[in-house]
Amino acid sequence: MTSPLLEIDNLHVCFDTRAGTVQALRGVSLSLAPGETLGIVGESGSGKSVTAQAVMGLIDVPGRISEGEVRWQGRPLAGRNADRDARPVWGKEITMVFQNPMTSLNPLMTVGSQISEVIELHLGLSRPAARRRAAELLSSVGISGAERRLDQYPHEFSGGMRQRVMIAMGIACEPKLLIADEPTTALDVTIQAQILELMAELQEKMGLAIVLITHDLGIVAGLCHRVAVMYAGQIVETGLVDAIFENPLHPYTQGLIRSTPGLDAEEERLTAIEGAPPGLLQPPAGCSFLPRCPIGDKGCEAPQAMRIFETGMVACRKAGVPAWSEAL
Ligand SMILES: Nc1ncnc2c1ncn2[C@@H]1O[C@H](COP(=O)(O)OP(=O)(O)O)[C@@H](O)[C@H]1O
Ligand SMILES: [Mg+2]
Repeated sequence: MTSPLLEIDNLHVCFDTRAGTVQALRGVSLSLAPGETLGIVGESGSGKSVTAQAVMGLIDVPGRISEGEVRWQGRPLAGRNADRDARPVWGKEITMVFQNPMTSLNPLMTVGSQISEVIELHLGLSRPAARRRAAELLSSVGISGAERRLDQYPHEFSGGMRQRVMIAMGIACEPKLLIADEPTTALDVTIQAQILELMAELQEKMGLAIVLITHDLGIVAGLCHRVAVMYAGQIVETGLVDAIFENPLHPYTQGLIRSTPGLDAEEERLTAIEGAPPGLLQPPAGCSFLPRCPIGDKGCEAPQAMRIFETGMVACRKAGVPAWSEAL
């Protein structure tokens, strides 16, 4: 078995706010192998972006990692015992693409100088060499007339083209891991499909590992090997994409699949999950999904139980044993 590239181990992240301590992540554990694509899905507020921020070292006051750690190729990268010498991996070996490229691109700098800057900084290339590399990168993400495009400003690009620029910057230093946080949410469906196709292509060509964060399970189906489902700051189910879509074990995952158009075999069953997730100021000790769960009972108020199997896990007391043996 290949050793993991990235390990997130029992990660707890809190935000100290005026109203109290928001427990944004409560014991998140994940691992990622080289070249693997992992989808993280869940409703808004479930902790997807905070997970990505923790991996990128972006948790800042009022936030803090209160327990657990992130390891990169076995070295502690974030958390109490973080190894300061491991920091250069940020921006070089691990890069991130955000939902809204307009907030991460500098409107006053040409696209060419922004890409070249990253290359000069991390790869130590001369300015002319960095510019040549930037042009190659723009072509490789499907932007035509790259030479001319280098001298344009972000506002001269469409939304989809800006996201391609962000991806070009993300892969400029040939990272081992690209984290994409809702990279296509702001784009229309056709452009969205093109960007996802581009990511799949790069993944194959570069052997890149990808963490794809989305609230849309349909997107995960097309691109990911494995998926982790988040709910209220915890992972409630992980597994291989095909297995999870075929036989979701957690009632929340089942609800998500039933509410995603095109995923459920019987479209007429398309139903939203009623209710809302619990507040994270005082989250329950037991299952957070209990108030919305169709099969939960009193027993689920006891501290969360987790079942681990070869290719994933589920945090549900009710995931029936017969269904389990089938899943294995
Ligand atoms: N800077 C912050 N201050 C206080 N709470 C925060 C902050 N950032 C995130 N949170 C809280 O952490 C939880 C997880 O947020 P986030 O990871 O952004 O969710 P999402 O799954 O939508 O990406 C939410 O309850 C959010 O309100
Ligand atoms: Mg988010």
